[in-house]
Amino acid sequence: MNRAVSGFSKKSKTEKIAWLAANYLQENPHFIQILKNYWNEDTELQQLHDDFIENTLSNYYLPFGIAPNFLINGEIYAIPMVTEESSVVAAASNAAKFWMDRGGFHAQVISTVKNGQIHFNFFGSEKDIEEFFNDVKPKLRQSIQSLEKNMQGRGGGLLDLSFVDKSHILEGYFYIHATFETLDAMGANFINSCLEKMAQTFEEEARNYEAFQKVNELPEVVMSILSNYVPECVVRAEASCPVEDLTTKHHNGKQFAQKFIRAIEIAKTETRRAVTHNKGIMNGVDAVVLATGNDFRAVEAGVHAYAARNSYYGSLTHAKIEDGIFTFWIELPLAIGTVGGLTSLHPLTKLAFEILQKPDAKQLMQIIAVAGLAQNFAALRSLVTTGIQKGHMKMHLMNILNQFEASKEEKEQALEYFKVNQVSHNAVVAFLAKLRG
Ligand code: MEV
Repeated sequence: MNRAVSGFSKKSKTEKIAWLAANYLQENPHFIQILKNYWNEDTELQQLHDDFIENTLSNYYLPFGIAPNFLINGEIYAIPMVTEESSVVAAASNAAKFWMDRGGFHAQVISTVKNGQIHFNFFGSEKDIEEFFNDVKPKLRQSIQSLEKNMQGRGGGLLDLSFVDKSHILEGYFYIHATFETLDAMGANFINSCLEKMAQTFEEEARNYEAFQKVNELPEVVMSILSNYVPECVVRAEASCPVEDLTTKHHNGKQFAQKFIRAIEIAKTETRRAVTHNKGIMNGVDAVVLATGNDFRAVEAGVHAYAARNSYYGSLTHAKIEDGIFTFWIELPLAIGTVGGLTSLHPLTKLAFEILQKPDAKQLMQIIAVAGLAQNFAALRSLVTTGIQKGHMKMHLMNILNQFEASKEEKEQALEYFKVNQVSHNAVVAFLAKLRG
């Protein structure tokens, strides 16, 4: 069977589904129905979603939940979270409540500088190319004046351009490093447009530059693109309380704090643990990034590179005890926006901003950092005390029951039974089988 297709993007949605069904789904009407079940009755709303990407066939739901009781810099927030993983929202809510009773979270944006590069080849004299860059720098700036106008009007724009020689690592490789302030926008489009325009100017100016003509060597732009590594766009969030306020059922406050700090030290020492430790943090970070229509892949890539900035991959969170006070904090790079992109298009994203009381980008950075810190607190608190499976399997129970289409009565009986019995996939299956005779 030849499954190659041409002109697929030109087909209507119904035609695309028909093609898919014929080629990959054995024309099974059940599969076609699944796709259609997720269409929205409101055709305008559906069209909006269809237009987000290309070749849309249906919608893919993820739960949109809320974690209330986040006291951040004196304000109480209910944080919208989008995630498929059970326990994440519960963990965030529990950690929020815990810290609300202990003064809440404090967050602060350290810096908001974003960056991009014009990567180019040059095989002539290093001195000539650096001189050329210095000569042409004002013209590069000038060439983006019209692109920058609006952003500058709001107080942002291109901050600086610098020349970077990497030819000692990769022969003939240089780049222009550009830094930007993009205020409440994530700024990807703005940065990329500026970079591409400056790259064009750079090549044009090079063609008339005397030193290059003499030796017949011109710089050649390879690509111009923003960087998702943003170590100069960083937010810090922290929570602290007297050690004795950390007493749990299993430990006194000091024992708990010491074990907690030890868990972080392990995540600073051992990559295998650090990755899972940071993954837990990203459970919180990504859920808010997604709920607010931001680019979670950009955030993920940038955060993990930051975690490895000291030549080893380590924990994004830190903790200490000083003068009887336990302090727990996170520092992470976040290039996010509260205007532009999906933020003003997706109705649920717009709603998320209403729930968050219309934060600007700096406030959203703080909220996201706190969500990550809270998630890490909840994970470590479970890990160093009861372990995570006890709580996790309770949440998981519902997923298994739903998977087997348990009725309301069956769910009630299962919840009762598994209050005292250990949850496992097999145990739930056996329980349902028995119940159903
Ligand atoms: C699970 O999604 C996240 C945890 O594994 C994080 C951690 O181990 O710190 C619980």
